[in-house]
Amino acid sequence: MAVVKAISNQELAALANRLRLTLIRDRMEEMLTMAVDKKLSPRETLEFFFRQEIRRREENRIRQGIMGAHFPAVRTLEDFDFEAQPSIDAKQIKELAQLEWIEQAKNLLFLGPPGVGKTHLAIALGREAIKLGMSVVFYSAEELGSLLDRALKEGTIKQKLYQLSKPKLLILDEFGYTPFSAASAPLLFRLVNSRYEQKSILITSNKPVSEWASVLGDATLTTAMLDRLLHHSEIILIRGDSYRLLEKRKEGLLTSARAAGTALTD
Ligand SMILES: Nc1ncnc2c1ncn2[C@@H]1O[C@H](COP(=O)(O)OP(=O)(O)O)[C@@H](O)[C@H]1O
Ligand SMILES: [Mg+2]
Repeated sequence: MAVVKAISNQELAALANRLRLTLIRDRMEEMLTMAVDKKLSPRETLEFFFRQEIRRREENRIRQGIMGAHFPAVRTLEDFDFEAQPSIDAKQIKELAQLEWIEQAKNLLFLGPPGVGKTHLAIALGREAIKLGMSVVFYSAEELGSLLDRALKEGTIKQKLYQLSKPKLLILDEFGYTPFSAASAPLLFRLVNSRYEQKSILITSNKPVSEWASVLGDATLTTAMLDRLLHHSEIILIRGDSYRLLEKRKEGLLTSARAAGTALTD
C-alpha cells in the first residue's frame, strides 16, 4: 500500500466522497478528535467511523421513506393512548406492529366512527413498516380516486396501476367519505386485484363493509373487491367517542362527548 504523506483534510474528504461516506466526509475532523479523546485503537477508530456512517444511512433511509409515503401527519405508536380507547386491544396492535401480516401480504382494516384513531394507527404502522425497510405509500381514498381518474384521462393508467402495485404496503385512508367515480371504481378493483396475495393494503373506513357498494357505486364490483380484500385479512372494529371530543371534555369544554352531537365531529 502506498504511504500517503500528510494528506490534507480536503483530499481525505474527497476520498470519503468518492466512497459516498457522507458522514465521514462532513464530520471527519470532529470524529477523529473524538476517537483520540476516547483513546480508540486504529481498529476501534475504523469501527467507530463505519458504525456512525451506517447509522446516518439508516436514518436517511427512514426519513426518505417517510417523506415518500406522504403521510398527512406525524403519528406514532408511542403517542397512541391505549387507555383512552378501550375498544382497541393494545396487545393486538403491538403484534400487528411486528408486521408479519405485511410479510404474508395480508390486509388490515380499521373500521369505526370518526376520531377514534384509525388514521393515527394506520400512519403509526406505516412508519414501523418503513423502519423495517418496507416501502409504504399513503393515500386518502379521495386522493387515490382522483389520481386514478387523472391517469385514465392522461392515458397513463397502466403505468399508474403498475406503480401502485409495487409498494409493500398501500394505505387507503378514509374509504367511505367520498364515493369513487364510475371510472375510478373498476380501477380500484384492478389495483386490489393486482395486490391480492402479493402486497398488503391497509384500509380505514367509517363505513361497515356491508355499505361499501354505495362508495363504489356497483354491487358486483364491490363483492369482487371484498372477496380479494378480505380473503387474507384482519378487521379491527373501533368503537367509542372521538378522541378529540374526549380531549375537549377533559378540558371541561363539554360535559359529555355525545352531548356535542355531530357539530364537533369531523
Ligand atoms: N387513542 C389515542 N391516543 C392519542 N391520540 C389519539 C387517539 N385517538 C385519536 N387520537 C388523535 O385524535 C385525532 C383524530 O384521530 P384519527 O386517527 O384521525 O381518527 P379517525 O381516523 O378514526 O377519524 C388525531 O389527531 C389522533 O392523533
Ligand atoms: Mg381518519
